[in-house]
Amino acid sequence: MDAAKNFLVAASILSADFSRIAEAVNLVESSRADWVHLDVMDGSFVPNLTFGPKMVSDVRPLTRLPLDVHLMIDKPERIIPEFAKAGADHIIFHLEGNVHVNRIIHQIRELGPRVGISIVPSSPVGLLSEVLGLVDIVLIMTVNPGFGGQEIIPECLEKVRALDQLRRERGYRYLISVDGGINRSTVGAVRAAGTDVLITGSSFFQAANPAEEVRVFKGSDGG
Ligand code: DX5
Ligand code: ZN
Repeated sequence: MDAAKNFLVAASILSADFSRIAEAVNLVESSRADWVHLDVMDGSFVPNLTFGPKMVSDVRPLTRLPLDVHLMIDKPERIIPEFAKAGADHIIFHLEGNVHVNRIIHQIRELGPRVGISIVPSSPVGLLSEVLGLVDIVLIMTVNPGFGGQEIIPECLEKVRALDQLRRERGYRYLISVDGGINRSTVGAVRAAGTDVLITGSSFFQAANPAEEVRVFKGSDGG
């Protein structure tokens, strides 16, 4: 691993108090996290519900940080244009949510946001093979999506290693993002696997000092 690598930290507002979302977004920005991560859940693809495009458009004027929108929803193509209109900078959707992944990648690309694809813990990296050259972000779920505060499934990091190797071998340019169960005890292994973006919900919002948490995640605080 490159010792000087600049890891990006994306703080997930799923773990924030939704009645004080502006404060949460300010905290993400003042703690020097890099992206605001927004977890969209539909109660069908995952057994939980969160929010839709309105949250993205309400958060948009609160920060200049990129809005990293993670769609954990069935048939995302129906509502992707609304998320683009709301100001999403990145739209990440799940391979498992629709058969026509290639079409959705082009749909997002034409609308403007950076394109991300994600897989749940039970899906192998091989399923992404045909689209790795088309996306900007590959998000590896290291917990079963739906809830914050779960424990990492460490076997999923093998997929991060495989993706890191594939991009070197094939010259792909995607960022590898890891989501779920990252905390002070797991972040070292997540970074070492070849991750670029560390998504954090509970460890950021429950930290006594979130700015220090960001420094630890980035490895600039001996973490
Ligand atoms: C889980 C979400 C995650 C979640 C991570 O379904 O996709 O982004 O907020 O939360 P922690 O860091 O608490 O595992
Ligand atoms: Zn997420």
